[in-house]
Amino acid sequence: MPVKGGITTSGREETFSYRLWRYDGAPGELIPLLQSAQNHFGYVPRKAINYIAGVTGIPESEVYGVITFYSQFRLRPMGKHVIRACAGTACHVSGSKVIIETIEDELGIEVGGTTDDGLFTLNTVACIGCCSLAPVIMINDETHGNLTPASLRKLLRAFRRKAKLSVSKAAGRDAAAAG
Ligand code: FES
Repeated sequence: MPVKGGITTSGREETFSYRLWRYDGAPGELIPLLQSAQNHFGYVPRKAINYIAGVTGIPESEVYGVITFYSQFRLRPMGKHVIRACAGTACHVSGSKVIIETIEDELGIEVGGTTDDGLFTLNTVACIGCCSLAPVIMINDETHGNLTPASLRKLLRAFRRKAKLSVSKAAGRDAAAAG
């Protein structure tokens, strides 16, 4: 039966369920354990890797090997804004390649990556279901279509500006509360 494992991250004790009963020593059996950790934290933190290595007796280097082999696992948290750039057929013929390259260039990351400030994560998807608006991306739950490299850069910069604004507003509130 599933049991609870406990680890400490960011100074907080957190628990995640894992299915130790499924572990029979085969490397593939690590996957449900890693999925449990990722479902709980949104990624597989270092502490979870230590913990899983300790529980299973598998060296940490092998646990890392499995994580990096499967693209479903992330070693870093997702950004605040998750961009899903459509690479489906309709978007492909409408220039999705340039759109994806523009995002990579504007944000300084590659597909699968997260910006250093934790603001954006870029992923690709096969079809968003709005092919008539190709090329299309989603930012969180919002769909943005008929994009050009210029309109896309404008859109991403607007998100950055909004994020900066909310950070400075929060700092102002903190300062007012302290003063
Ligand atoms: S192919 Fe991009 S939305 Fe359908």
